[in-house]
Amino acid sequence: MEWTILGAGALGCVMTGLLRQRGESVALMLSERHRGHFHPSLELITLTGAHQLIQSRPRFPEHARTVECLLVFTKAYQVVDALKELRHLPASTPIILLHNGLGVAEKVQALFPNNPLLAGVSSHGAIKERDWLVRHTGKGETWLGPLNDAAKTWSHLVKPLEKALGHAEWSDDIALHQRRKLAINAVINPLTACNNITNGQLLEPRFADVLEQLSEEVYQVMSRLDGDKAETQDAFRRRLQQVIELTSSNHSSMHQDLAHGRPTENEYISGYILANAGNQPVPVCSQLYQEIERKSGTAKPAQRMQH
Ligand code: PAF
Repeated sequence: MEWTILGAGALGCVMTGLLRQRGESVALMLSERHRGHFHPSLELITLTGAHQLIQSRPRFPEHARTVECLLVFTKAYQVVDALKELRHLPASTPIILLHNGLGVAEKVQALFPNNPLLAGVSSHGAIKERDWLVRHTGKGETWLGPLNDAAKTWSHLVKPLEKALGHAEWSDDIALHQRRKLAINAVINPLTACNNITNGQLLEPRFADVLEQLSEEVYQVMSRLDGDKAETQDAFRRRLQQVIELTSSNHSSMHQDLAHGRPTENEYISGYILANAGNQPVPVCSQLYQEIERKSGTAKPAQRMQH
């Protein structure tokens, strides 16, 4: 089986490299702007600092009919438009969504009602140093699971992923993994982006209060959604602390998006918290949401903010 990677960002390229290293057949689905500019190989800097040339087959939307398994690494706000270009995707092809945040899968399901739809949650670290040069910055866990009934028979996909990535596991409740990742992103990403700091700087005393208040708001909203599967607040705090420490020298993805003048995943991260807060006050989350919208030039009318 051939894997097709949609989204040639840092993580998409690192995954291409790791799968190719294990002898998997991998194609990169590219957009129009890459036509004529695609390098025959991308360069992967491994965790040990070694440089490796990775060959992958370039593909364009007209090749959608031949895609056997689609791994979607585009940003949350790009997923739907990128998939609309692949309308000839066979109905039997599994689509695996790996973006940060939540709120996209429902739209993908509507576009491709018959395809097996899966989600993946990965904590590998990756940085794009320049076009076609990517660095694998951290080994993490990868979880895969079904978002619809048709996807329930695709658990065998974790085997080759486990070989290539070191860890990959199937979960029948992948939405729980997605929500747990979102809870971490909803604290780290807006705070680092708004304050122009690395993840590790969040542990400086000057951020102690806001970190505590935002963690509390996010925990209250997400634990209500998790119901009896909710982790304790201490477990959440420990997990957050661990991610901050493990990624301390990194700039979060939202920080990078803002710094490069790109759109952000604000709507799918903090926006998701606001949309699910119900009667619970979430003043810090709300203020950061608006600040990010303002900084990225996508401020919406006040009425749009009534999630
Ligand atoms: O979005 C990100 O940057 C990452 O998911 C995380 C875990 C916050 C580390 O930077």
